Amino acid sequence: MQTVKDYVQRWYESGLDPDEYVCHQKQGNLVEISEPATGERWTVLTFCTNDTLGLVQEAAVKQAAIDAILQYGTSNSSCSVLSGRIELHQQLEDEISAFKHLPHTQLFINAWMAMQALMDAFCHLAIPVPGFQHNRETLILTDVLNHGCIVSAIVNAGTRSGRVFGHSPRVRVKAYRHCDAEDLARKLRRYAQPDDRIMVVSDAVFSMDGDIAPLPDMLDVLQNYPGSVIMMDEAHASGAIGATGRGIYEHFGILPSQAIQRGVTPLIMTTFSKFAASAGAAISTHVAELIPLLNVSPTSIGTISLPPPNTAAALASLRLVRKFPERVQRLQENTRYLRSRLAEHDFLALGETNVIPVILPPELNPKSFCRQLMQEHGLWVSPIWYIAKPRLRITVNALHSKEEMERLVTGMVTVRDLLYKPTISA
Ligand SMILES: Cc1ncc(COP(=O)(O)O)c(C=O)c1O
Repeated sequence: MQTVKDYVQRWYESGLDPDEYVCHQKQGNLVEISEPATGERWTVLTFCTNDTLGLVQEAAVKQAAIDAILQYGTSNSSCSVLSGRIELHQQLEDEISAFKHLPHTQLFINAWMAMQALMDAFCHLAIPVPGFQHNRETLILTDVLNHGCIVSAIVNAGTRSGRVFGHSPRVRVKAYRHCDAEDLARKLRRYAQPDDRIMVVSDAVFSMDGDIAPLPDMLDVLQNYPGSVIMMDEAHASGAIGATGRGIYEHFGILPSQAIQRGVTPLIMTTFSKFAASAGAAISTHVAELIPLLNVSPTSIGTISLPPPNTAAALASLRLVRKFPERVQRLQENTRYLRSRLAEHDFLALGETNVIPVILPPELNPKSFCRQLMQEHGLWVSPIWYIAKPRLRITVNALHSKEEMERLVTGMVTVRDLLYKPTISA
């Protein structure tokens, strides 16, 4: 542990540790927080929550979670293979299937478990079955900026339990340039072998860049590889893009069935921690046979099923989104408004969604910028300083009012004027 102690000490001394706050209560986007070190409390306006549609405090959602606890208790206390599913799981699976236009859905406790289960099931199937020989290698292509849950699952894909318990052919992983379908095509031409099982996996909306994967171009490439699979991680796309919040297919005006007609198998991962005021994930497919494999993957059997209150909150949220798509429209209007106001004030915002990364001049430290925003203006924005391009990560949601967005922009301009004096060359 000496290495850990020494490292963390230097980490603190270098100011690389994140500022942390304790939340005491929330009202809309107003949050009462305290700083553990000083105990100081104050109320701030948050622009860093992923409660995209503002459903976390919605009465119907809270009541659904309470009712589920009263009916089933707080946990299912086991996995679904060993002790069954609850009716709410089935309802949520059916309604996610309808929302995403893919008839079969399997739930997971979170995105990391879902991705790992998918890699186990797809690459390695399950226990050996008499008369079946698994002999085709898998080639996985991944966007270089994909979320950690994808990176972790594909890095493990070559070594997971399928290979531990029985023979399973090789899994090869290749990265392609961010949102670059031409590079995807190049990598496929270079690396795909005639008998490969091909899977391309991508964030639909990139969580740190706020941009959208070029799905139509990717499908154009993949139709040259019949039987290939395209997995879209819709953690930030669900409830956020597409006219009614159905995600990336709706955003581009296509249906998953059109991918199927072109010989490409669509898979969609939905998560509930952002648009659906809960936690948990779901994988949807038109291939019925994938579901029993996902159900017996080590990450399904080896961990707890989605607890009743989380399942109920996600289901109630999904029903609200389907019934009142105007919430999604409000989110999209807010996104356009805040992005345009930031641009008018010369802030460089990446992407096009409600995840708004703002790149500051290199002289400005995002952490100091956000501290100043919080302490002097009561505005809570996340600084991201540990990646290649440091940035502010603003998330706007359906509850923000114009006045609140104006308050953010004014605060950001004031802090920039205070901390940044551009050198004007003669
Ligand atoms: C693209 C992406 N995938 C997966 C996740 C993880 O989702 P969850 O925390 O709901 O399991 C996130 C979370 O930020 C994400 O942005």
